[in-house]
Amino acid sequence: MRPWLTRFGLALLALLLLIAAAVPVLVGLRPIVGPRVRPLTDRTFERTPERLERGRYLVTSVSGCLFCHGETDWQTPGFPPRTGTEGSGRSWADEGIPWLTVPNITPHPDTGAGRWTDHQLARAIREGIGHDGRALFPLMPYHQYRYMSDEDLAAVIGYLRSLPPESCRTVRTSGTQAPPHPGPAQAFGMSL
Ligand code: HEC
Repeated sequence: MRPWLTRFGLALLALLLLIAAAVPVLVGLRPIVGPRVRPLTDRTFERTPERLERGRYLVTSVSGCLFCHGETDWQTPGFPPRTGTEGSGRSWADEGIPWLTVPNITPHPDTGAGRWTDHQLARAIREGIGHDGRALFPLMPYHQYRYMSDEDLAAVIGYLRSLPPESCRTVRTSGTQAPPHPGPAQAFGMSL
């Protein structure tokens, strides 16, 4: 074989090896092998008046859930959720991400979370795995909610169950799926 051909072959091989090593370092293996999904259990969280109050506080004041899962009233100071859309979800098209949908998490049985189990909700909130087992796009801040205690999680879920069921139908997020687990940007303290 001609020497330049051998050198070209070796350079190509080195380049391929470099790419094979760089991809897992940059984005991790999860985008390739799929998310790490833990099986669901039939665990449920008891509803108590204390948990309902705590959940209301966490959902409406601290965690910002309704800012994304619903429409915002931009005319009122503090930008509260628009009355009647709390938890109902919306498309993210106005923010320039037309393929991203924030789902309806009110207890509506057909268009919301009415048929999802407590544990499906818990896994979505703290682990970023949707009720259907897919990795959620990390605009959903599960990488921050993962530090929520079991008690707070139970309170949040109890409060979500108490929201008026909204019939707003949200289509599933389509398009690019981002790395399901923190990539280098988040490892260096930057959130998406
Ligand atoms: C910054 C915006 C944002 C905030 C804040 C937010 N979410 Fe989400 N959430 C999303 C998006 C976007 C998705 C869908 C991601 C996808 O489809 O890949 C989602 C998905 C979910 C899902 C999964 C639905 C399914 O299909 O199984 C649940 C449950 C959920 N959010 C609950 C919550 C709760 C509870 C809070 C507050 C503690 C919250 N979210 C706060 C944006 C947000």
